[in-house]
Parts: sequence; C-alpha cells; structure tokens
Amino acid sequence: MTATPVVLLHGFPLDHRMWTDVAAELGDDRRVLVPDLPAAAAELDEVGPTLDDAADRVADAVRGAGVERAVVAGLSMGGYVALALLERHPDLVAGLALVDTKSTADAPDARAKRLAVAAQVEASGSVDAVRGMAGTVLGETTRTAHPDVVARVAAWIDEQPPARVAWSQRAMAARTDRTEVLRRFTGPVVVVVGDEDEVTGVEAARDLAKVAGGAPLVVVPRAGHLTAVEDPGTVATALVELARRVDGGR
Ligand code: MLT
Repeated sequence: MTATPVVLLHGFPLDHRMWTDVAAELGDDRRVLVPDLPAAAAELDEVGPTLDDAADRVADAVRGAGVERAVVAGLSMGGYVALALLERHPDLVAGLALVDTKSTADAPDARAKRLAVAAQVEASGSVDAVRGMAGTVLGETTRTAHPDVVARVAAWIDEQPPARVAWSQRAMAARTDRTEVLRRFTGPVVVVVGDEDEVTGVEAARDLAKVAGGAPLVVVPRAGHLTAVEDPGTVATALVELARRVDGGR
C-alpha cells in the first residue's frame, strides 16, 4: 500500500518550523511537505493578497514536488488555506486534518482589527504588534509548566518578516466562509483542538466535525491553540490515523 504524502500548513504568526516535531513522528515511509505561507520571505511580494493566492502556490509546490494527491493538515490559518486548497484544487486533497481552526469568515470587527495590525506592522517595520501572541496561542498549562515552549514560540514570532505578518492579516481578513466547501467534501477528515484553546475553542471544533459529516474529533488535553507544538505526539497520531484511512481508501 502506498503511503499518501502529507502537507502541513502552519498557523499565524509562525512558519513551517511549528510542524517540526509532528513531521518527525509521521514515519519514514511517508513524504511530508511543509511549505511556508504564503511563500519564502524573498518571494513575499510576488504573492497576491489573499489566502486563495497562497493555496494556489501550495498547489504549485505540491505538484512541483511530484505529488498529485495528499493528506492536507492545516493549523488555524493553515486550516483556512487547506479549505481554500480544497475549493480551488479538490483533486489534490485526499484527506483533511483541521487543527485548531474554523471554516467561517471574520466578523466585521475582527476584520478591522486585522487590517489595523497589518498597518501597524508595516508602519513600524517590526512584529511588535503581534509579539504578545506567544501568550495567547499557547494554553494555560504550557504557559505555566513549559517556559521552554513559550520561549521557542516567542523566538519564532520575533523572526517573522513583518511583510509576512501584514500579508497574513490582510489575507485572513479577506477570506470567505468555506463551511459549504467542507460539507461537500467526501474524503476522510479529522478535527483536532486543544482543550485549552482560547482562540478557536472546543465548541467551534465540535461544530466543524459536524459539518464534516461527523468526522472524528480529537480533543488534546492540556494544550492550547498550538496543539502541534504543545503535544506533537497526539497530533501526529491523529494525522497518521487519518493518513492510513486515506491509504486504505476508506
Ligand atoms: C492562527 O493561529 O493561525 C491564527 O490564530 C489565525 C487567526 O488569527 O484567525
């Protein structure tokens, strides 16, 4: 049986490194592609201002790597891109892992906040406006018991190019509701959420699992919004189970 490749799409304001520990646990027989969204820093100004553009670039990169079908896992912003990929390149998506994410668009006030942050980041040429997010994306347990993880995530945020942070905020603000895209998907899905996720939350994950036709829901104990960093073993197990369902054609 061929091991279907896995594509891992990261959250905001981070990059591919947030998936490092999960990728290491996916097994040696499975190809794992971990692109930066929307692109490598040097190519940022070549990308249009939407998650659709990011999804198209992911599709190009995946096909460019010789992969025609993959299990796509997206955490938060990565999940928004995964759903854009599903809508725009459905042939590529053999299975879907939606991790600490949602299918809905922003309310007007959330959209306005994102645009303000994008403007602030650009004006200051720094990531100051999002530096505090290491506190909000990690769960209470990680914040109190794992200062090393807090420091690692804070360092990743510090290292983000301001242009990528601004791009991401504008692109997320412009995204559309993709609930119906998910509802129509007939392939295997798993929904994963940290039980201390203060950004997306367990209730939203339950709704997502329902929309996905009663997909399995994995609630990760003592993890916040960055389950893939806070408990990579549990997230990797959920992804491997999903990938095996895809491999087996179930
Ligand atoms: C993320 O983790 O990617 C963000 O929380 C997404 C968002 O701001 O909606």
